[in-house]
Amino acid sequence: MSKTITCSAPVNIAVIKYWGKRDEELILPTNSSLSCTLSQDQLQTRTSVSFSPTYTKDRLWLNGKEEDVSKSARLRNCLSETRRLRSEYEASLEKKGNSSVAKLSQYFVHAASINNFPTAAGLASSASGYACFVFALCKLYELPISVSDMSRIARTGSGSACRSLFGGFVAWEMGQLKDGSDSQAVQIAPETHWPEIEAIILVVSDAKKATSSTSGMQTTVQTSELLQHRISEVVPRRMKEIIHAIEQKDFKAFAEITMKDSNQFHAVCLDTYPPICYLNDVSKKVIELLTAYNSGPDGIKAAYTFDAGPNAVIYAPKANIKELIQFISFYFPSPRSNPTAYFPDPLKIFQGESWA
Ligand code: ADP
Ligand code: DP6
Ligand code: CO
Repeated sequence: MSKTITCSAPVNIAVIKYWGKRDEELILPTNSSLSCTLSQDQLQTRTSVSFSPTYTKDRLWLNGKEEDVSKSARLRNCLSETRRLRSEYEASLEKKGNSSVAKLSQYFVHAASINNFPTAAGLASSASGYACFVFALCKLYELPISVSDMSRIARTGSGSACRSLFGGFVAWEMGQLKDGSDSQAVQIAPETHWPEIEAIILVVSDAKKATSSTSGMQTTVQTSELLQHRISEVVPRRMKEIIHAIEQKDFKAFAEITMKDSNQFHAVCLDTYPPICYLNDVSKKVIELLTAYNSGPDGIKAAYTFDAGPNAVIYAPKANIKELIQFISFYFPSPRSNPTAYFPDPLKIFQGESWA
Protein backbone atom coordinates (compact mmCIF):
# COMPACT_ATOMS: atom_id res chain seq x y z
CA MET A 1 0.00 0.00 0.00
CA SER A 2 1.37 3.40 -0.98
CA LYS A 3 0.06 6.79 -1.97
CA THR A 4 1.34 10.10 -3.39
CA ILE A 5 -0.15 13.57 -3.08
CA THR A 6 1.02 16.69 -4.93
CA CYS A 7 0.12 20.22 -3.77
CA SER A 8 1.19 23.76 -4.58
CA ALA A 9 1.39 26.81 -2.33
CA PRO A 10 1.88 30.56 -2.85
CA VAL A 11 4.45 32.88 -1.33
CA ASN A 12 3.39 35.79 0.85
CA ILE A 13 5.31 39.04 1.05
CA ALA A 14 5.00 40.97 4.31
CA VAL A 15 4.15 44.66 4.39
CA ILE A 16 4.64 44.73 8.18
CA LYS A 17 7.69 42.54 8.68
CA TYR A 18 8.13 39.72 11.18
CA TRP A 19 11.70 39.90 12.49
CA GLY A 20 12.53 38.40 15.87
CA LYS A 21 11.45 35.42 17.96
CA ARG A 22 10.56 35.27 21.64
CA ASP A 23 10.55 31.44 21.49
CA GLU A 24 12.88 29.67 19.05
CA GLU A 25 11.40 26.18 19.51
CA LEU A 26 7.75 27.06 19.02
CA ILE A 27 8.60 29.90 16.58
CA LEU A 28 6.75 32.66 18.42
CA PRO A 29 7.45 36.19 17.14
CA THR A 30 8.38 39.37 18.99
CA ASN A 31 5.86 41.33 16.90
CA SER A 32 2.72 40.81 14.85
CA SER A 33 3.07 41.02 11.06
CA LEU A 34 0.90 41.37 7.97
CA SER A 35 1.35 40.15 4.41
CA CYS A 36 -0.25 39.78 1.01
CA THR A 37 -0.44 36.28 -0.40
CA LEU A 38 0.52 36.42 -4.08
CA SER A 39 -1.32 34.51 -6.78
CA GLN A 40 0.43 31.33 -7.89
CA ASP A 41 0.71 32.46 -11.54
CA GLN A 42 4.35 33.40 -11.08
CA LEU A 43 5.84 32.20 -7.79
CA GLN A 44 4.94 28.89 -6.21
CA THR A 45 6.21 25.80 -4.45
CA ARG A 46 5.11 22.37 -5.63
CA THR A 47 5.59 19.45 -3.28
CA SER A 48 4.83 15.76 -3.67
CA VAL A 49 4.67 13.58 -0.58
CA SER A 50 4.26 9.84 -0.43
CA PHE A 51 4.34 6.99 2.04
CA SER A 52 5.22 3.38 1.39
CA PRO A 53 5.98 0.32 3.53
CA THR A 54 9.23 0.01 1.55
CA TYR A 55 10.63 3.37 2.81
CA THR A 56 13.21 3.02 5.56
CA LYS A 57 13.41 6.67 6.72
CA ASP A 58 11.86 10.08 6.13
CA ARG A 59 13.55 11.82 3.16
CA LEU A 60 13.13 15.16 1.40
CA TRP A 61 14.57 16.48 -1.85
CA LEU A 62 14.53 20.25 -2.31
CA ASN A 63 14.99 21.43 -5.89
CA GLY A 64 16.38 17.99 -6.74
CA LYS A 65 18.95 17.85 -3.94
CA GLU A 66 18.43 15.73 -0.84
CA GLU A 67 18.24 17.56 2.51
CA ASP A 68 19.16 15.74 5.71
CA VAL A 69 15.78 15.47 7.44
CA SER A 70 17.39 14.14 10.63
CA LYS A 71 19.37 17.41 10.91
CA SER A 72 16.37 19.71 10.40
CA ALA A 73 14.34 20.16 13.59
CA ARG A 74 11.80 22.14 11.55
CA LEU A 75 11.14 19.41 8.99
CA ARG A 76 10.97 16.88 11.83
CA ASN A 77 8.53 19.09 13.79
CA CYS A 78 6.12 19.23 10.85
CA LEU A 79 6.43 15.50 10.17
CA SER A 80 6.02 14.44 13.80
CA GLU A 81 3.04 16.72 14.48
CA THR A 82 1.11 15.61 11.38
CA ARG A 83 2.00 11.98 12.13
CA ARG A 84 0.84 12.38 15.74
CA LEU A 85 -2.49 13.80 14.53
CA ARG A 86 -2.81 10.90 12.07
CA SER A 87 -2.31 8.33 14.77
CA GLU A 88 -4.86 10.13 16.99
CA TYR A 89 -7.27 10.08 14.04
CA GLU A 90 -6.65 6.36 13.46
CA ALA A 91 -7.36 5.66 17.15
CA SER A 92 -10.58 7.69 17.04
CA LEU A 93 -11.80 5.81 13.94
CA GLU A 94 -11.06 2.47 15.58
CA LYS A 95 -12.90 3.56 18.69
CA LYS A 96 -15.94 4.22 16.52
CA GLY A 97 -15.80 0.59 15.39
CA ASN A 98 -13.97 1.01 12.09
CA SER A 99 -11.86 -2.14 11.92
CA SER A 100 -10.06 -1.48 8.60
CA VAL A 101 -8.30 1.79 9.42
CA ALA A 102 -5.12 2.26 7.35
CA LYS A 103 -2.21 2.71 9.77
CA LEU A 104 -0.47 5.36 7.69
CA SER A 105 1.16 6.88 10.76
CA GLN A 106 3.57 3.95 10.96
CA TYR A 107 5.11 4.48 7.50
CA PHE A 108 7.99 6.74 6.54
CA VAL A 109 7.43 9.60 4.13
CA HIS A 110 9.34 10.78 1.06
CA ALA A 111 8.89 14.36 -0.19
CA ALA A 112 10.12 16.17 -3.29
CA SER A 113 9.70 19.92 -3.50
CA ILE A 114 10.46 22.47 -6.19
CA ASN A 115 10.36 26.24 -5.89
CA ASN A 116 9.90 27.85 -9.31
CA PHE A 117 11.76 30.95 -8.05
CA PRO A 118 15.07 31.57 -6.21
CA THR A 119 15.35 29.66 -2.92
CA ALA A 120 16.70 31.42 0.20
CA ALA A 121 17.06 34.71 -1.70
CA GLY A 122 14.52 36.84 0.14
CA LEU A 123 11.45 35.87 -1.87
CA ALA A 124 9.81 33.91 0.95
CA SER A 125 10.69 30.37 -0.15
CA SER A 126 10.49 29.17 3.45
CA ALA A 127 6.91 30.49 3.59
CA SER A 128 5.56 28.73 0.49
CA GLY A 129 7.88 25.76 1.14
CA TYR A 130 6.66 24.91 4.63
CA ALA A 131 3.05 25.86 3.88
CA CYS A 132 3.12 23.41 0.97
CA PHE A 133 4.89 20.66 2.92
CA VAL A 134 2.43 20.77 5.81
CA PHE A 135 -0.63 21.09 3.57
CA ALA A 136 0.51 18.10 1.48
CA LEU A 137 1.16 15.99 4.60
CA CYS A 138 -2.30 16.83 5.98
CA LYS A 139 -3.86 15.74 2.68
CA LEU A 140 -1.73 12.57 2.54
CA TYR A 141 -2.92 11.64 6.04
CA GLU A 142 -6.50 12.80 5.28
CA LEU A 143 -6.51 14.75 8.55
CA PRO A 144 -9.87 16.26 9.50
CA ILE A 145 -8.30 19.55 10.68
CA SER A 146 -8.91 23.20 9.87
CA VAL A 147 -6.70 25.46 7.76
CA SER A 148 -5.91 27.36 10.98
CA ASP A 149 -4.57 24.15 12.51
CA MET A 150 -2.44 23.52 9.40
CA SER A 151 -1.18 27.11 9.65
CA ARG A 152 -0.16 26.52 13.28
CA ILE A 153 1.88 23.46 12.23
CA ALA A 154 3.43 25.33 9.27
CA ARG A 155 4.53 28.05 11.74
CA THR A 156 6.77 25.50 13.46
CA GLY A 157 8.54 24.99 10.09
CA SER A 158 9.04 28.69 9.30
CA GLY A 159 7.23 31.58 10.98
CA SER A 160 6.22 33.30 7.75
CA ALA A 161 4.72 30.03 6.45
CA CYS A 162 1.71 30.36 8.76
CA ARG A 163 0.46 33.24 6.58
CA SER A 164 0.71 31.33 3.26
CA LEU A 165 -2.16 29.01 4.20
CA PHE A 166 -4.57 31.90 3.63
CA GLY A 167 -5.18 34.08 0.57
CA GLY A 168 -5.50 37.84 0.40
CA PHE A 169 -4.32 40.04 3.27
CA VAL A 170 -3.20 38.01 6.27
CA ALA A 171 -2.13 39.05 9.75
CA TRP A 172 -0.02 36.88 12.03
CA GLU A 173 -1.08 37.92 15.52
CA MET A 174 1.91 37.49 17.79
CA GLY A 175 -0.18 36.30 20.77
CA GLN A 176 0.78 36.47 24.44
CA LEU A 177 0.57 32.91 25.74
CA LYS A 178 3.69 30.88 26.49
CA ASP A 179 2.44 27.79 24.67
CA GLY A 180 1.82 29.82 21.50
CA SER A 181 -1.82 28.78 21.19
CA ASP A 182 -2.87 32.39 20.50
CA SER A 183 -0.06 33.08 17.98
CA GLN A 184 -1.90 32.53 14.74
CA ALA A 185 -2.51 33.73 11.20
CA VAL A 186 -5.90 35.27 10.42
CA GLN A 187 -7.26 36.52 7.13
CA ILE A 188 -7.92 40.28 7.28
CA ALA A 189 -9.48 40.42 3.80
CA PRO A 190 -9.79 37.86 0.98
CA GLU A 191 -8.07 38.35 -2.40
CA THR A 192 -11.42 39.44 -3.86
CA HIS A 193 -11.56 42.44 -1.50
CA TRP A 194 -8.95 44.53 -3.35
CA PRO A 195 -8.22 42.86 -6.71
CA GLU A 196 -6.85 46.13 -8.17
CA ILE A 197 -3.58 45.63 -6.30
CA GLU A 198 -0.86 43.80 -8.23
CA ALA A 199 2.67 42.74 -7.33
CA ILE A 200 5.76 43.06 -9.50
CA ILE A 201 8.82 41.01 -8.50
CA LEU A 202 12.23 42.40 -9.43
CA VAL A 203 14.81 39.63 -9.17
CA VAL A 204 17.97 41.54 -8.38
CA SER A 205 19.94 38.41 -7.47
CA ASP A 206 18.97 34.74 -7.30
CA ALA A 207 21.93 33.85 -5.07
CA LYS A 208 21.38 32.24 -1.68
CA LYS A 209 21.63 34.92 1.00
CA ALA A 210 24.71 34.98 3.22
CA THR A 211 22.63 35.26 6.42
CA SER A 212 19.46 33.15 6.67
CA SER A 213 16.36 34.82 8.09
CA THR A 214 16.52 32.51 11.10
CA SER A 215 20.07 33.41 12.13
CA GLY A 216 19.74 37.07 11.09
CA MET A 217 16.79 37.67 13.39
CA GLN A 218 18.50 35.83 16.25
CA THR A 219 21.42 38.27 16.14
CA THR A 220 19.02 41.20 15.85
CA VAL A 221 17.12 40.15 18.99
CA GLN A 222 20.41 39.82 20.88
CA THR A 223 21.99 43.10 19.79
CA SER A 224 19.64 45.71 18.28
CA GLU A 225 18.35 48.52 20.49
CA LEU A 226 16.23 49.87 17.67
CA LEU A 227 14.31 46.55 17.61
CA GLN A 228 12.90 47.28 21.08
CA HIS A 229 11.44 50.57 19.86
CA ARG A 230 10.09 48.87 16.72
CA ILE A 231 8.29 46.03 18.49
CA SER A 232 6.89 48.05 21.38
CA GLU A 233 5.91 51.32 19.68
CA VAL A 234 5.97 51.20 15.91
CA VAL A 235 4.55 47.84 14.82
CA PRO A 236 1.45 47.86 17.09
CA ARG A 237 0.49 51.29 15.65
CA ARG A 238 1.26 50.33 12.06
CA MET A 239 -0.73 47.08 12.31
CA LYS A 240 -3.85 49.09 13.20
CA GLU A 241 -3.17 51.71 10.52
CA ILE A 242 -2.52 49.26 7.70
CA ILE A 243 -5.56 47.12 8.53
CA HIS A 244 -7.64 50.31 8.34
CA ALA A 245 -6.00 51.25 4.99
CA ILE A 246 -6.76 47.77 3.59
CA GLU A 247 -10.37 47.91 4.79
CA GLN A 248 -10.79 51.37 3.22
CA LYS A 249 -8.78 50.42 0.08
CA ASP A 250 -6.67 53.50 0.74
CA PHE A 251 -3.66 52.75 -1.47
CA LYS A 252 -1.63 55.83 -0.55
CA ALA A 253 -1.81 55.04 3.16
CA PHE A 254 -1.15 51.33 2.51
CA ALA A 255 1.87 52.15 0.34
CA GLU A 256 3.41 54.67 2.72
CA ILE A 257 3.22 52.27 5.68
CA THR A 258 4.58 49.43 3.52
CA MET A 259 7.64 51.41 2.39
CA LYS A 260 8.30 52.79 5.88
CA ASP A 261 8.11 49.33 7.40
CA SER A 262 10.50 47.87 4.83
CA ASN A 263 12.89 50.76 5.53
CA GLN A 264 12.67 50.24 9.28
CA PHE A 265 13.18 46.49 9.00
CA HIS A 266 16.40 47.09 7.03
CA ALA A 267 17.43 49.80 9.51
CA VAL A 268 17.03 47.24 12.30
CA CYS A 269 19.22 44.84 10.30
CA LEU A 270 21.90 47.52 10.06
CA ASP A 271 21.49 48.21 13.80
CA THR A 272 22.29 44.54 14.43
CA TYR A 273 25.86 43.81 15.51
CA PRO A 274 27.65 42.64 13.46
CA PRO A 275 25.44 44.48 10.94
CA ILE A 276 23.36 42.69 8.32
CA CYS A 277 22.91 44.30 4.88
CA TYR A 278 20.34 42.49 2.79
CA LEU A 279 19.98 45.34 0.28
CA ASN A 280 22.61 45.79 -2.42
CA ASP A 281 23.32 48.75 -4.73
CA VAL A 282 20.66 47.68 -7.23
CA SER A 283 18.07 47.39 -4.43
CA LYS A 284 18.96 50.90 -3.29
CA LYS A 285 18.62 52.16 -6.86
CA VAL A 286 15.13 50.63 -6.98
CA ILE A 287 14.26 52.58 -3.82
CA GLU A 288 15.59 55.81 -5.40
CA LEU A 289 13.67 55.22 -8.62
CA LEU A 290 10.40 54.44 -6.85
CA THR A 291 10.86 57.49 -4.63
CA ALA A 292 11.28 59.63 -7.75
CA TYR A 293 8.28 57.91 -9.40
CA ASN A 294 6.14 58.70 -6.34
CA SER A 295 7.23 62.34 -6.12
CA GLY A 296 5.15 63.54 -9.08
CA PRO A 297 1.87 65.48 -8.88
CA ASP A 298 -0.21 62.31 -8.32
CA GLY A 299 1.70 61.39 -5.16
CA ILE A 300 2.30 57.76 -4.21
CA LYS A 301 1.58 55.38 -7.09
CA ALA A 302 3.58 52.29 -6.05
CA ALA A 303 5.11 50.76 -2.91
CA TYR A 304 8.38 48.85 -2.69
CA THR A 305 9.16 46.31 -0.02
CA PHE A 306 12.24 44.10 0.50
CA ASP A 307 12.34 40.93 2.59
CA ALA A 308 15.60 39.50 3.93
CA GLY A 309 17.35 39.69 0.55
CA PRO A 310 18.10 42.17 -2.25
CA ASN A 311 15.02 41.38 -4.37
CA ALA A 312 12.24 43.95 -4.63
CA VAL A 313 8.50 43.42 -4.51
CA ILE A 314 6.43 46.34 -5.75
CA TYR A 315 2.73 46.67 -4.94
CA ALA A 316 0.72 49.00 -7.18
CA PRO A 317 -2.82 49.42 -8.51
CA LYS A 318 -3.43 47.70 -11.88
CA ALA A 319 -3.89 51.09 -13.53
CA ASN A 320 -0.24 52.00 -12.88
CA ILE A 321 1.36 48.67 -13.78
CA LYS A 322 2.05 49.29 -17.49
CA GLU A 323 3.64 52.67 -16.82
CA LEU A 324 5.61 51.22 -13.91
CA ILE A 325 7.01 48.34 -15.96
CA GLN A 326 8.01 50.76 -18.75
CA PHE A 327 9.65 52.98 -16.16
CA ILE A 328 11.55 50.15 -14.47
CA SER A 329 12.62 48.48 -17.71
CA PHE A 330 13.95 51.79 -19.03
CA TYR A 331 16.41 51.93 -16.14
CA PHE A 332 16.93 48.18 -15.82
CA PRO A 333 16.50 46.88 -19.38
CA SER A 334 16.48 43.11 -19.67
CA PRO A 335 19.08 41.89 -22.17
CA ARG A 336 16.72 39.05 -23.09
CA SER A 337 13.69 41.18 -23.88
CA ASN A 338 15.58 44.04 -25.47
CA PRO A 339 19.14 43.15 -26.47
CA THR A 340 19.92 46.54 -28.04
CA ALA A 341 18.63 48.57 -25.11
CA TYR A 342 20.54 51.64 -24.17
CA PHE A 343 21.22 51.84 -20.44
CA PRO A 344 20.89 55.48 -19.37
CA ASP A 345 22.27 56.85 -16.17
CA PRO A 346 19.47 56.40 -13.59
CA LEU A 347 20.66 59.53 -11.81
CA LYS A 348 19.41 61.58 -14.77
CA ILE A 349 15.92 61.10 -13.49
CA PHE A 350 16.81 63.44 -10.66
CA GLN A 351 18.00 66.01 -13.16
CA GLY A 352 14.57 66.24 -14.72
CA GLU A 353 15.15 64.02 -17.75
CA SER A 354 11.94 62.45 -19.02
CA TRP A 355 11.74 58.67 -18.76
CA ALA A 356 8.33 58.13 -20.35
P1 ADP B 1 13.61 32.89 2.13
O1 ADP B 1 13.85 34.36 2.10
O2 ADP B 1 13.67 32.29 0.75
O3 ADP B 1 12.36 32.52 2.88
P2 ADP B 1 14.93 31.69 4.43
O4 ADP B 1 16.33 31.92 4.92
O5 ADP B 1 13.83 32.19 5.29
O6 ADP B 1 14.85 32.30 2.95
O7 ADP B 1 14.65 30.16 4.24
C1 ADP B 1 15.28 29.39 3.26
C2 ADP B 1 15.22 27.93 3.69
O8 ADP B 1 13.86 27.46 3.71
C3 ADP B 1 15.92 26.99 2.74
O9 ADP B 1 17.32 26.96 2.96
C4 ADP B 1 15.25 25.66 3.10
O10 ADP B 1 15.80 25.12 4.28
C5 ADP B 1 13.82 26.09 3.41
N1 ADP B 1 12.98 25.89 2.22
C6 ADP B 1 12.86 26.69 1.13
N2 ADP B 1 12.03 26.17 0.23
C7 ADP B 1 11.59 25.01 0.74
C8 ADP B 1 10.70 23.99 0.27
N3 ADP B 1 10.09 24.10 -0.90
N4 ADP B 1 10.49 22.91 1.07
C9 ADP B 1 11.09 22.79 2.27
N5 ADP B 1 11.94 23.72 2.77
C10 ADP B 1 12.19 24.81 2.02
C1 DP6 C 1 11.90 39.39 6.36
O1 DP6 C 1 9.76 33.13 8.36
O2 DP6 C 1 11.83 33.11 6.92
O3 DP6 C 1 10.58 37.70 5.33
O4 DP6 C 1 10.67 31.79 11.11
O5 DP6 C 1 13.17 31.66 11.13
O6 DP6 C 1 11.87 30.56 9.28
P1 DP6 C 1 11.91 31.70 10.27
O7 DP6 C 1 12.04 33.04 9.42
P2 DP6 C 1 11.17 33.53 8.19
O8 DP6 C 1 11.31 35.11 8.35
C2 DP6 C 1 10.71 35.98 7.45
C3 DP6 C 1 11.25 37.36 7.61
C4 DP6 C 1 10.79 38.35 6.55
C5 DP6 C 1 9.55 39.11 7.00
C6 DP6 C 1 8.23 38.39 6.95
O9 DP6 C 1 8.02 37.51 6.11
O10 DP6 C 1 7.35 38.78 7.75
CO1 CO D 1 11.92 32.83 4.90
